[in-house]
Amino acid sequence: MTTATALVEPVTVAGLPLNSQFVMAPMTRERSPHGVPTPEVAAYYRRRAENGVGLIITEGVLVDHPSAGHQPAVPRLTAGAAEAGWRHVTSEVHAAGGRIAAQLWHLGSRREPAGTAWTPQTMSGPDFDTLIRAYAESARVAVRAGFDAVEVHAAHGYLLDEFLWPVTNPSRRHLSFPADVIRAVRAEIPACTPLIVRFSQFKERDYSARIASTPAELGVSLEGFRQAGADVLHASQRRFWEPAFAGSDRNLAGWAKHLTGLPSITVGSIGLTRDFATSDRMRELVDRRTSGEYDLIALGRVLLGNPSWVSLADAGRFDELRDYHKTDEELYF
Ligand SMILES: Cc1cc2nc3c(=O)[nH]c(=O)nc-3n(C[C@H](O)[C@H](O)[C@H](O)COP(=O)(O)O)c2cc1C
Repeated sequence: MTTATALVEPVTVAGLPLNSQFVMAPMTRERSPHGVPTPEVAAYYRRRAENGVGLIITEGVLVDHPSAGHQPAVPRLTAGAAEAGWRHVTSEVHAAGGRIAAQLWHLGSRREPAGTAWTPQTMSGPDFDTLIRAYAESARVAVRAGFDAVEVHAAHGYLLDEFLWPVTNPSRRHLSFPADVIRAVRAEIPACTPLIVRFSQFKERDYSARIASTPAELGVSLEGFRQAGADVLHASQRRFWEPAFAGSDRNLAGWAKHLTGLPSITVGSIGLTRDFATSDRMRELVDRRTSGEYDLIALGRVLLGNPSWVSLADAGRFDELRDYHKTDEELYF
């Protein structure tokens, strides 16, 4: 029995039975030519599902609109070849006993205009309806392709987060757009399919950015997500042990759960060094989970270079774990 063993226990979250409390965090890979995931993508996710990850959240997958992103090898969620590719991915993960959620992504103004017919512009009335429909359509494709859940990406400064962040939305207009998207996705997927919403304070272009300076402000956004149909909140944070607000040790996932009553997923710098699995931080990760601060634990970078991190940490095979290196981001298998 190792410290990690406590987290490799079955759990049911938002009605979805999982064989472990570990989640694979969404990580862009750019290995899907023309937006179509290949058999290698399926094998990549299957390997993590075979090794103790209960729920895989895919890399960001572009929703069904040409403005969603510019990278040709980022996967899409559209009917046809991409849907067939995803069906293969989901069946491989299911064959390994895992569950898988599709992360719905639109880059917003982070999309590079070069080489595309779309240039960043201020959204007007019809654009909102068009993009809401694009998210809903992709959610429908995700369910058809066999996904167990969908995650709406409203973090890191991309489209939906641009409405939440005062720097990109100083007038605070259209604040309800992210919730409108969540509502449309919820209406499109079966009631038994969990809808996860990922949000963050920080942005990729500004680690000190905040969408909320107080718990009360955060509560307004998150309660809007809950009322629109979110079942699980995924609080993206760079280090899970850091308090989200002064005056309490609670992290961002802890506040999300406390403010809304919804189950939450924590993430941030878990397992990056070889000795993490036997460290006090690992014990803290388990203790906070046991006390109910959050429900699930997402692993990002550690799973790039250590596809078997969970099963090795569970089995006490610590000498087979390796430190994370930035070059791991180039690794695929
Ligand atoms: C290569 C790479 C790609 C990522 N792509 C995404 C993405 O597509 N969507 C997303 O929400 N987060 C993305 N992230 C953030 C991760 O999901 C995760 O929150 C972050 O890596 C912190 O977790 P970690 O410290 O365990 O790596 C990415 C991170 C990395 C390293």
